[in-house]
Amino acid sequence: MAFKPFDLTGKVAVVTGGNSGIGLGMAEGLAAAGADVAIWGRNADKNAAALERLKAHGRRAEALAVDVSDEAAVVDAMAESLARLGRIDCCIANAGVGGGAPLTEQTTEQWRKVTTVNLDAVFWTFREAAKHMVARAEEGDKGGSLLVTSSVSAIHGAPQNQAYAATKAGVLAMVRGTAVELARHGIRANAVLPGWIATEMTERLQKWDAFNEKAIGRVPMRRWGEGEDFAGIAVYFASDASTFHTGDSVVIDGGYSIF
Ligand code: NAI
Repeated sequence: MAFKPFDLTGKVAVVTGGNSGIGLGMAEGLAAAGADVAIWGRNADKNAAALERLKAHGRRAEALAVDVSDEAAVVDAMAESLARLGRIDCCIANAGVGGGAPLTEQTTEQWRKVTTVNLDAVFWTFREAAKHMVARAEEGDKGGSLLVTSSVSAIHGAPQNQAYAATKAGVLAMVRGTAVELARHGIRANAVLPGWIATEMTERLQKWDAFNEKAIGRVPMRRWGEGEDFAGIAVYFASDASTFHTGDSVVIDGGYSIF
């Protein structure tokens, strides 16, 4: 038989924040590799546009209107995704928000807004996906992949972004604990750390000449990353090519953090 480790035919993936940017790049990669995909996002128009793109790959695709900062909404959306697509093999907790300010001016409200979406919601998303994966493993169908979009701000100093950086580092610890705990079920947990990526989140920075010169000018690949740059890593971690790969953090930043 031909060696096709990245063929996702028969696998189902959920991607939170899958209607734009990095999440959409991941979702499109998964669909192109043969997976059925459910994306979760808040904006109905963006969900509809992303769904069109996913369906063009000829696989089952679903878009759910979900606010992941609401625990009950995450619980319901995981159940709904399961009901629509039958199983979940890969769950990518990618939804995230920025929100920085000088430390001395940061409010608890700003802190909670970021930590709720970027940390609490990852916990809820992982927990609900893991319940299904563990139950399935106990019935003899082992396996599953949990992936979170962290950030190089987890390992760099990120000025005026204490909340954001704390959440992105927090999910790395969450991944390692989860990886050890769920390994017996064949379930992996990993993190991707993007560098500077041209998405809605970085719109303001993309238009800032000094930033382009000083930060992007230091990226060895000499460009902003794009959502599509995350298709390959999503396919890899969703696929059977990564069944022994767990508890890891993969930096995808065009070489920025090693230069
Ligand atoms: P984006 O703004 O294009 O996408 C963010 C996604 O998260 C959207 O789909 C949005 O609907 C979703 N989202 C946000 N809050 C949500 C909520 N409460 N409920 C449901 N969905 C919600 O930005 P981007 O860059 O694609 O962000 C994706 C992830 O990548 C985030 O976790 C972000 O922190 C991370 N990241 C981005 C970097 C960049 O340079 N763009 C660098 C490092 C990490």
